[in-house]
Amino acid sequence: MFSGLFFVSLLALPGFGKFLQSSADLQAYDFVVIGAGPGGAAVSNRLTEDPNVSVLVVEAGGTNNDSITIDVPLLCTMLTPNTQWDWNYTTTPQPNLNDRVLPFPRGLGLGGTSAVNCLVYTRGSKQNIDRWAELSGDSSWGWDAMLPYFKKSEKFNFPVDGHNVSGQFDPAFHGFDGFIGVSVPGASRAIDDRVIQTTKDLAEFPFSIDMNTGDHLGVSWVQALVDRGIRSSAAAYFSPEVLARQNLDILLNTRVSRVLASSKNSFNVVQYLDSVDGKLKTIKAAKEVILSAGAVGTPSILLHSGIGNATHLTSLGIKPLVNLPSVGQNLTDHIGVSSTWLVNSTLTYDAVLRNETLAEELLQQWKATKTGIYVDTSENHLAFLRLPENSTVLKEFGDPAAGNETAHFEFLFQNGLNSVTASGNYLNIPSGNVSPKSSGAVTINSTNPFDAPVIDPGLLSHPVDIAVLREAIKSAHRFVKAAAWKGYILQDLTNATTDAEIEDFIRENAVSFFHPVATAAMSPFNTTDWGVVNPDLKVKSVKGLRIVDASVAPSLPAAHTSAAVYGIAERAADIIKAEYGLL
Ligand SMILES: Cc1cc2nc3c(=O)[nH]c(=O)nc-3n(C[C@H](O)[C@H](O)[C@H](O)COP(=O)(O)OP(=O)(O)OC[C@H]3O[C@@H](n4cnc5c(N)ncnc54)[C@H](O)[C@@H]3O)c2cc1C
Ligand SMILES: *[C@@H]1O[C@H](CO)[C@@H](O)[C@H](O)[C@H]1NC(C)=O
Ligand SMILES: *[C@@H]1O[C@H](CO)[C@@H](O)[C@H](O)[C@H]1NC(C)=O
Ligand SMILES: *[C@@H]1O[C@H](CO)[C@@H](O)[C@H](O)[C@H]1NC(C)=O
Ligand SMILES: *[C@@H]1O[C@H](CO)[C@@H](O)[C@H](O)[C@H]1NC(C)=O
Ligand SMILES: *[C@@H]1O[C@H](CO)[C@@H](O)[C@H](O)[C@H]1NC(C)=O
Ligand SMILES: *[C@@H]1O[C@H](CO)[C@@H](O)[C@H](O)[C@H]1NC(C)=O
Ligand SMILES: *[C@@H]1O[C@H](CO)[C@@H](O)[C@H](O)[C@H]1NC(C)=O
Ligand SMILES: *[C@@H]1O[C@H](CO)[C@@H](O)[C@H](O)[C@H]1NC(C)=O
Ligand SMILES: *[C@@H]1O[C@H](CO)[C@@H](O)[C@H](O)[C@H]1NC(C)=O
Ligand SMILES: *[C@@H]1O[C@H](CO)[C@@H](O)[C@H](O)[C@H]1NC(C)=O
Ligand SMILES: *[C@@H]1O[C@H](CO)[C@@H](O)[C@H](O)[C@H]1NC(C)=O
Ligand SMILES: *[C@@H]1O[C@H](CO)[C@@H](O)[C@H](O)[C@H]1NC(C)=O
Repeated sequence: MFSGLFFVSLLALPGFGKFLQSSADLQAYDFVVIGAGPGGAAVSNRLTEDPNVSVLVVEAGGTNNDSITIDVPLLCTMLTPNTQWDWNYTTTPQPNLNDRVLPFPRGLGLGGTSAVNCLVYTRGSKQNIDRWAELSGDSSWGWDAMLPYFKKSEKFNFPVDGHNVSGQFDPAFHGFDGFIGVSVPGASRAIDDRVIQTTKDLAEFPFSIDMNTGDHLGVSWVQALVDRGIRSSAAAYFSPEVLARQNLDILLNTRVSRVLASSKNSFNVVQYLDSVDGKLKTIKAAKEVILSAGAVGTPSILLHSGIGNATHLTSLGIKPLVNLPSVGQNLTDHIGVSSTWLVNSTLTYDAVLRNETLAEELLQQWKATKTGIYVDTSENHLAFLRLPENSTVLKEFGDPAAGNETAHFEFLFQNGLNSVTASGNYLNIPSGNVSPKSSGAVTINSTNPFDAPVIDPGLLSHPVDIAVLREAIKSAHRFVKAAAWKGYILQDLTNATTDAEIEDFIRENAVSFFHPVATAAMSPFNTTDWGVVNPDLKVKSVKGLRIVDASVAPSLPAAHTSAAVYGIAERAADIIKAEYGLL
């Protein structure tokens, strides 16, 4: 009786011995995973389902478990840039954006960037994911094969206000037993009815029940990474039950500098900076090192390890060990800009942001009951739309999208601005180009692995991209011309009507949507002239090193990117388990 109780209480200790603060506590591990974002968290969870396999996760940041700003979905815009949860990167001056230097946040700590993002859950179109199969030469990276993995990651949950969700999502395309919470909005907003009415007024903006079925075109209720009113980041893969596994350790506050070869071409050693004594140390994985440091961190670590463009590495003074010129190249990202209108209403978020009493009441409501507008992300609806098929832009440049059922642009319908204004109430529609042709690169310019990488997303470097964004802004203006908005719109604050004026407005105001991918892309097994990993996600030409994060996606879906990474990581875990005969 006594010993039984003792046993139970030991097991119940939260996170007992799982978070390591010092390398003195390290043991021997089969796999060492670098980074605890969507890629690293999901793959280390699934691998440790087999009790006979041991995994160490090395994460540069902390647990991120002490911040209400992370937990409250609506406060997402306060999390970056330049905060304790951010790597604080910026881009190089962007020549097509009047040489502006843009913030380029990347999340630090458990959950990685999914702990600081704005929670939108979108998979892209079937054509987007089928393009991965085409580029990698492996049909199991296509939509039909990936759909079960998207569903496996997901714990769809019903909104906190208990409203009837029929007609707001299609359950056939969702998973209910995974780790990351996904939900439709849990509180209504004053513009909801007008947005829905517009889909009835104007044929250009059809309603779509669910943007995650593979057919993503239309205006839909947003699906957000929320679990009963609380942000659900990749840290959800480290639930108390998972942390209780004796075969999973997570070394926090520890930055990886390089991967090293234990023998010729076997890169299964991780070099890291010991946060206690400030010395560089190493740990060897018995089976593999898995790089999950994200689309910026992963190529940066590879380059500092001598894996990349040999000419470039030599010019920096880094000894090239493996010549893979695609490392860091082909970085593809989304760009967008807001259109804003002054509106005839007091029921917008602006009114909350400049009334501390009201903001505090909403926070207390969230704390007490996990209800109210704080349970949702920045918008209740979004749209994925195409240019008309007779558009002169398509005639001039061809179709930049992955196919005829894939969006060119998206809208986020925000009931108010996300910044404090002295007066006024606003409607804000950030519009993004979601099928860009532009690309850039992540490179390094020093031999110190702790220096910031050089990030050039090459925004608008292909001329079709500004034309698409220009047409998107015109389309957003047509949206608010619908009868549903009569008497609501007071003033258009974009101040741009001609094509040239709108393009100037874009160059002066557009920002990254922070969706970089493809910097360590998959290419077919026997392709050596481009790509970084094979379709099994192993780094080409070496042993003991695999990549599981946004950098392996060979093309950018017309979507916010975390859903893609969860799907990639779930599939990666099955690939690895099959190879080693794991459970
Ligand atoms: C402001 C913002 C808003 C966004 N909004 C959305 C959204 O609404 N919906 C959406 O789906 N996506 C959104 N994204 C993008 C999305 O969050 C990313 O695509 C996703 O998190 C990528 O997952 P990842 O595992 O590849 O990398 P990350 O999430 O970046 O994780 C990488 C992890 O590796 C760690 N790491 C990096 N380098 C090292 C090192 N040297 N040593 C140790 N650890 C290291 C990092 O600290 C981090 O924890 C947004 C991104 C930003 C910045
Ligand atoms: C566990 O792993 C060890 C070493 O990798 C192996 O020898 C052993 O057979 C495995 N046991 C089971 C039950 O799979
Ligand atoms: C956060 O996690 C750490 C490590 O497990 C733990 O010591 C701490 O008490 C946790 N804090 C909160 C607020 O849960
Ligand atoms: C980013 O800046 C914030 C605020 O100055 C700081 O707290 C944080 O440690 C910085 N992040 C990194 C990785 O240095
Ligand atoms: C490698 O880098 C060099 C110098 O930076 C560049 O000229 C060359 O084109 C690159 N090689 C490949 C194959 O991309
Ligand atoms: C970029 O990706 C394309 C495929 O989308 C490929 O053909 C090209 O070679 C890649 N470029 C580099 C430098 O990797
Ligand atoms: C601020 O909010 C409080 C609480 O809802 C309300 O009583 C007050 O009237 C508001 N103040 C203004 C200036 O709107
Ligand atoms: C495209 O077709 C629509 C509807 O048929 C028409 O109104 C519009 O003028 C056409 N646009 C161009 C550029 O041809
Ligand atoms: C897209 O193209 C395919 C193949 O040509 C066709 O079958 C399909 O109907 C098209 N879809 C739309 C929406 O036009
Ligand atoms: C290297 O890149 C960083 C980040 O872009 C920049 O701040 C720094 O000035 C660059 N250094 C050199 C020597 O080019
Ligand atoms: C503002 O809305 C009210 C009704 O809510 C309406 O009576 C008034 O005409 C509107 N004002 C403008 C300028 O449209
Ligand atoms: C547009 O003009 C209005 C009124 O003059 C001004 O308040 C607003 O800041 C301008 N917007 C932009 C984006 O320049
Ligand atoms: C790659 O090439 C090897 C040797 O030429 C061949 O045996 C193998 O089947 C090829 N793999 C694929 C996926 O084409």
